[in-house]
Amino acid sequence: MYLSRFLSIHALWVTVSSVMQPYPLVWGHYDVCKTQIYTEEGKVWDYMACQPESTDMTKYLKVKLDPPDITCGDPPESFCAMGNPYMCNNECDASTPELAHPPELMFDFEGRHPSTFWQSATWKEYPKPLQVNITLSWSKTIELTDNIVITFESGRPDQMILEKSLDYGRTWQPYQYYATDCLDAFHMDPKSVKDLSQHTVLEIICTEEYSTGYTTNSKIIHFEIKDRFAFFAGPRLRNMASLYGQLDTTKKLRDFFTVTDLRIRLLRPAVGEIFVDELHLARYFYAISDIKVRGRCKCNLHATVCVYDNSKLTCECEHNTTGPDCGKCKKNYQGRPWSPGSYLPIPKGTANTCIPSISSIGNCECFGHSNRCSYIDLLNTVICVSCKHNTRGQHCELCRLGYFRNASAQLDDENVCIECYCNPLGSIHDRCNGSGFCECKTGTTGPKCDECLPGNSWHYGCQPNVCDNELLHCQNGGTCHNNVRCLCPAAYTGILCEKLRCEEAGSCGSDSSQGAPPQGSLALLLLLLLLTALLGTASPLLF
Ligand SMILES: *[C@@H]1O[C@H](CO)[C@@H](O)[C@H](O)[C@H]1NC(C)=O
Ligand SMILES: *[C@@H]1O[C@H](CO)[C@@H](O)[C@H](O)[C@H]1NC(C)=O
Ligand SMILES: *[C@@H]1O[C@H](CO)[C@@H](O)[C@H](O)[C@H]1NC(C)=O
Ligand SMILES: *[C@@H]1O[C@H](CO)[C@@H](O)[C@H](O)[C@H]1NC(C)=O
Repeated sequence: MYLSRFLSIHALWVTVSSVMQPYPLVWGHYDVCKTQIYTEEGKVWDYMACQPESTDMTKYLKVKLDPPDITCGDPPESFCAMGNPYMCNNECDASTPELAHPPELMFDFEGRHPSTFWQSATWKEYPKPLQVNITLSWSKTIELTDNIVITFESGRPDQMILEKSLDYGRTWQPYQYYATDCLDAFHMDPKSVKDLSQHTVLEIICTEEYSTGYTTNSKIIHFEIKDRFAFFAGPRLRNMASLYGQLDTTKKLRDFFTVTDLRIRLLRPAVGEIFVDELHLARYFYAISDIKVRGRCKCNLHATVCVYDNSKLTCECEHNTTGPDCGKCKKNYQGRPWSPGSYLPIPKGTANTCIPSISSIGNCECFGHSNRCSYIDLLNTVICVSCKHNTRGQHCELCRLGYFRNASAQLDDENVCIECYCNPLGSIHDRCNGSGFCECKTGTTGPKCDECLPGNSWHYGCQPNVCDNELLHCQNGGTCHNNVRCLCPAAYTGILCEKLRCEEAGSCGSDSSQGAPPQGSLALLLLLLLLTALLGTASPLLF
């Protein structure tokens, strides 16, 4: 559910406040997180620091009272009129709507008469202190942008502490002390915000300005946010740039105006005189008609919209940030440490967007073959580092050299790349094409280059045949050995045994005729036998 209510309330406030308050609408900046701009490269996004508008935060709080049964009217009781201790016939009755004063009435619309208000039980247990804690919780960090204003229907308390929590109520710090006598009540010297300066702005003070009980007509207590802003932005908050600059650079200052919870500790009701009138204890109680808290969701300058859904405020984060306060980078956008947006330079600030991650892209853009990526600033792109499973490429989308794509496997399959297994003797290199075919040397064939073409035979790779049984017959009774040589009869020689040995030696007799064994060849034969035996050639092949 979008906060249309949120926005319409704000619009209402603008109208009201511009009538009632003389402040310029200085918080109107930083209302856009991005715009499209036209550059030489075409339309691109330009990102800016942005924040939700300031609004009435009392619509989004939960209120808790301690003690829980401190609201008047259960059982019904009578109390004295404000300021007139002798008119004691007013009645508080929780079971009668017109006479009930439940806590919600502190946050309803004021402006009608008589005003509606929450009221506590009376101080009938005096001298036991009448103390009430009113805790306002947002379950969300919010930044205060205007004074906290509490309007009392009773006299303003003699002693009160405003406290704040920054951790959803786990720990509390005082925000301001209020007393008719600060020294007596809190052992503090009374001060007013006007006594502070830029350097002491974070000091926690006790003020006596707002505790004059019944003696003046004023019913209001302030926690002065704007006076504190004014130390930086000037008396009428004209110089917001200076305040923004300070908020940017001083975390303590930013945190000072940030809360998740507020607690109003009512410690002693207005007595108005030195002594408590013990005969008329029904004079003493607390009653609050209105509490104003204006602020905005803290979104670390990464959102302009704050959504109220399921009774919970959440920033609608931009700039690829996430979390209730946009306090971290989105998954897959952790390429550099998160940082809040910056108000500077005025007026657009700096978005400090989150950029794609080094590591998490691994799973989606490296197809699971790498869990390390590297962001290349110059190209504004991410490349996978150390692709596994024999993959390579910017996204590990290719197979390494020596591997080819498994057609039946998805890109993210561990088996996506298959080794080529090119025969190292038969192929030119170890790479294959997309279907696993290797590149073969001359005379070689087969997908892996481990077969020989006709006319070739495998001998440490395919070699052209020297002899075979088809075209290259050995002659003169020679036999072809492994296609690499003819084994010739003793009298013949030559690659195909085509020559007479004596011809080669030039020693053939005149009477000898071609084809007939030469005479007196016994000695030669014996010599040959001896020779082949010595060389280890198999003798049965000779004849
Ligand atoms: C109010 O809260 C304070 C702590 O901030 C606690 O010490 C005190 O007892 C509470 N008072 C009541 C009446 O619950
Ligand atoms: C955030 O991420 C989305 C993609 O998920 C992208 O379109 C968008 O431009 C990013 N925004 C920023 C500010 O980087
Ligand atoms: C190809 O991928 C399928 C599916 O993962 C797998 O079953 C097969 O073994 C792979 N083939 C090879 C040769 O690795
Ligand atoms: C690979 O080479 C073989 C043989 O040359 C061819 O038949 C096949 O189409 C080629 N495959 C691809 C994907 O190029």
